[in-house]
Amino acid sequence: MDVAIVGAGYVGTTTGVVLAEAGHDVTLVEVDADRRDALAEGEVPFHEPGLDDALADVLGGRLTVAGKVEPADVALVCVGTPPREDGSADLSQLKAAADDLAAAVPSWDRRPTVAVKSTVPPGTTRRVVRPRLGEHADLAVNPEFLREGSALADARDPDRIVVGTFDDAAEQPMRDLYADRDCPKVFTTPETAELVKYASNALLATKISFANEIALIAEQLGVDVDDVVEAVGMDHRLNAAFLGAGLGFGGSCFPKDVQALRHVARELDVEPRMLDAVLSTNDAQPLWAVRQARTLLDGLDGRRVAVLGLAFKPGTSDVRGSRAVPIVRALADGGATVVGHDPMAGQAFAEHVDAEVTLAGTVEEALDGADACILQTAWPAYAAIDPATFVDRMRRPVVLDGRRALDGASLIEAGVTYRGLGNGTQGERS
Ligand code: UGA
Repeated sequence: MDVAIVGAGYVGTTTGVVLAEAGHDVTLVEVDADRRDALAEGEVPFHEPGLDDALADVLGGRLTVAGKVEPADVALVCVGTPPREDGSADLSQLKAAADDLAAAVPSWDRRPTVAVKSTVPPGTTRRVVRPRLGEHADLAVNPEFLREGSALADARDPDRIVVGTFDDAAEQPMRDLYADRDCPKVFTTPETAELVKYASNALLATKISFANEIALIAEQLGVDVDDVVEAVGMDHRLNAAFLGAGLGFGGSCFPKDVQALRHVARELDVEPRMLDAVLSTNDAQPLWAVRQARTLLDGLDGRRVAVLGLAFKPGTSDVRGSRAVPIVRALADGGATVVGHDPMAGQAFAEHVDAEVTLAGTVEEALDGADACILQTAWPAYAAIDPATFVDRMRRPVVLDGRRALDGASLIEAGVTYRGLGNGTQGERS
């Protein structure tokens, strides 16, 4: 099939590459000229493992890059829906994409199926996209569930494909599009598909906030939260995925989507108590590291604190929603000097985050003379740091493991004052 992908962000680029691999002829349509030029040269303008090589394999063959949408059998709208001040989703990019398609489609030699892959509040495709395109295209809602950092693997091998349609016309083209995907395919209404996406992200975020609260309880009890989660996850009704305790969830999706769903709920006169709790737990969680530093250093004023990891999670250069932001700000507010390090995201952090932080080029540089070190992102390179490095470089070897990624026992043996979030140390079996 001829497939147009409108918007070459994480979702659009990855989806385009994977559909080209599946044998479709894909055009990646991107309005930003710099991004378009980079992609046309085979450069992915963000860090996503394996995507450069996968793009190179299909570029100029089954995949091309363009500034304007060309006739296609299926057009997938993959533009961003960032949060507005009040938490609701900003639909301006979606409207612009729908207007562009509405202007182009009537002159095409075929009637396309236009599917909305962007995450949009339930009812948006009916209210915003349908009036613009109605007569000239069959419409579908096709939410995406890939994660940054494992985007290719997730898109190649999804757990399920969800498609919402207004009538039967869009169903067959969407089945053909994903014919090679061996997973359950759910065909349903547009609003159901839209809500499935929000409900999925909100439940994943809920699991994380739940695990984070249990972690704080476990820590006070001298219990290791991972031991709890492992045994809890053995119940077939529960599972341990996304119960990984840490400094909270970030990224461009969970915070934004939970806020947007909360906004939708209020508009529908439903009080979103659960969603409120998920977000307020997530706001409080990063402050664990700041509290620990304040207590162990006897105040923050004049202290030097190293923050290892600025990306919102390992495997990405994305700093949107990173928990490093509230941590760095709270440390600086307390009078500390903050030195940050990240293998990939340093530049993005400096560009996009307004916070008082000095960037270090190496881990050693970040640790030099520090009074405390906070592990914020579980990059594998941090777990491989020799315990002696903390002792040799830091003024006071205080290590606060906000992602439970370090080997606490080896650090303690080397002379480090170690605290792991949710990792009680007094619980002895007897
Ligand atoms: C998330 C969802 O997992 C995807 O299914 C969805 O498609 C995507 O949002 C989206 O809506 O576009 P993503 O934000 O890329 O994907 O990354 P995740 O791996 O889900 O991590 C999100 C945050 O949760 C990160 O800050 C991560 O550190 C945190 N997390 C994750 C935890 O704190 N504990 C866990 O057990 C898992």
